[in-house]
Amino acid sequence: MTTSVRIPLMAANWKMHLSIAEGVAFIAKLHELLGNPQDREVLIAPPFTHLWPLREPMAAAGFSLAAQNCHWETQGAFTGEVSLTMIAETGCRYVIVGHSERRHIFGESDAWIGRKTAAALSRGVVPIVCIGEKIEEREAGLTEEVLRRQLTAGLEGLRVDTPEKLVIAYEPVWAIGTGRTATPGQAQDAHAFVRGWLAQRFDKAVANGIRILYGGSVKPDNVDDLMAQPDIDGALVGGASLQADSFARIVQYKKSGKSP
Ligand code: 13P
Repeated sequence: MTTSVRIPLMAANWKMHLSIAEGVAFIAKLHELLGNPQDREVLIAPPFTHLWPLREPMAAAGFSLAAQNCHWETQGAFTGEVSLTMIAETGCRYVIVGHSERRHIFGESDAWIGRKTAAALSRGVVPIVCIGEKIEEREAGLTEEVLRRQLTAGLEGLRVDTPEKLVIAYEPVWAIGTGRTATPGQAQDAHAFVRGWLAQRFDKAVANGIRILYGGSVKPDNVDDLMAQPDIDGALVGGASLQADSFARIVQYKKSGKSP
């Protein structure tokens, strides 16, 4: 059975920011500001070192924990890497895969991202698969081609029978950390393209239930217009997720006609 009800997923990607103590204080403050929202899911992806110490405060607040990266092997001689078994042991429900900083700073290939996605699915950790075009690709009219290539490689050979098992994040590279956001219309066009691709790749009911997040300079003052788009099911927030009051405002986006 699949359902097309998509619970909005409001996600903080802390990248390489905040100490463990700052993280604990952030969670307490966010919980105080938000209470226990029933109609949306709140997720935080802190650095690896923070996962275990933040596990209990996160669970007590009802927030979902995510890792920012993973290795596809269970164990082995991979210095500096962390496996999905280890990630699952810290209480993570989610893992970010293929973030543009991993692709462009650390040289991760589409094929590696596909292996990570497959490994996450097989270990019961929900992959948040990030895709997005660079500015020169958008200007050359290649956005859909890039998204198609990243989706094809990132989801290579996978079976997704229930939509809860997969999240996609559309993060145009030119909007990440730049203060330049995709317009709601640009983001909606990309999200509709992704949902159409998912419907062909899996089936329509599954595609209708998969959450597609937008990321790239999401702020308190633009989140309402982005979340009003029919195919935007949440946000993956970097800079504006580092202060509890700013992230709380993003989580509490005004629905403007779109009910979760
Ligand atoms: P910014 O919100 O800082 O643009 O970062 C977006 C991002 O990369 C989230 O994963």
